[in-house]
Amino acid sequence: MEKQPIGVFDSGVGGTSILSEIVKLLPNEDYLYLADSKNAPYGQKSVQEIKDLCHKNVKWLLAHGAKIIVVACNTATTNAIEELRQTYNVPFIGIEPAIKPAALNTQTNTIGILATKGTLNSALFCKKVDLYSSKIRIIEVVGKGLVEAIESGDLSSDALKLKLEGFVKPMLAQKIDYLVLGCSHYPYLIPLLKSIVPLGVKIIDSGEAVAKQTKSVLQNKQLLNAQGRSDLKLYSNSSLNALNQICERTFNDFDVQFLDF
Ligand code: DGL
Repeated sequence: MEKQPIGVFDSGVGGTSILSEIVKLLPNEDYLYLADSKNAPYGQKSVQEIKDLCHKNVKWLLAHGAKIIVVACNTATTNAIEELRQTYNVPFIGIEPAIKPAALNTQTNTIGILATKGTLNSALFCKKVDLYSSKIRIIEVVGKGLVEAIESGDLSSDALKLKLEGFVKPMLAQKIDYLVLGCSHYPYLIPLLKSIVPLGVKIIDSGEAVAKQTKSVLQNKQLLNAQGRSDLKLYSNSSLNALNQICERTFNDFDVQFLDF
């Protein structure tokens, strides 16, 4: 069983930002990555639609032997992970906006969260916010259109920078000192974000924490593969160009294929 691959999925190419952290920490594992780009963005869909898409992705990954599933999408995690855990007999690792480290370390008592509408509206996310909202100010902004831009391969255009400024500048005006990236696509915008936010504002995402959690669950369940050669297979049902472009920047050795799923 430990030789089986780790299954990872996202609404598109964004979850590769999480995958890269996992590959760094677990270089002997095999990986299957599903980019459901045809159905991106998930963040604008109803909870039921998000759940249905998650079931489709999980079923494919299980049919192809995944020993654990990483839901590398905040929108999918916050809307569907409870149901997935109740339905399938496999460990699930989810990803949620990293509110806790930001809330515990803010000096200005104000943090910003950039995420999809689906994540910010989810019951799971609102429960997390309630834990901290009496002590600090949490400014939530929907990054409308960002996932679409990244899916189209745009990580740095002037139009995208303008859009990002429209989201981030109002947060800066309210003196945030942490900007939490609550969508796995957004780490690919960090170079652009750094040209907008001052140095004192820390930009954080959840990739490293998810990788550590994946390792710890695999260890506890004795599913860790210590001797494999790390086979990395990625599948997309749409934007092969964006996936190839991102993988070339991120991974040394990988195989990208179109899959109609
Ligand atoms: N990467 C997904 C997330 O983390 C994007 C969601 C979407 O497709 O809107 O939320």
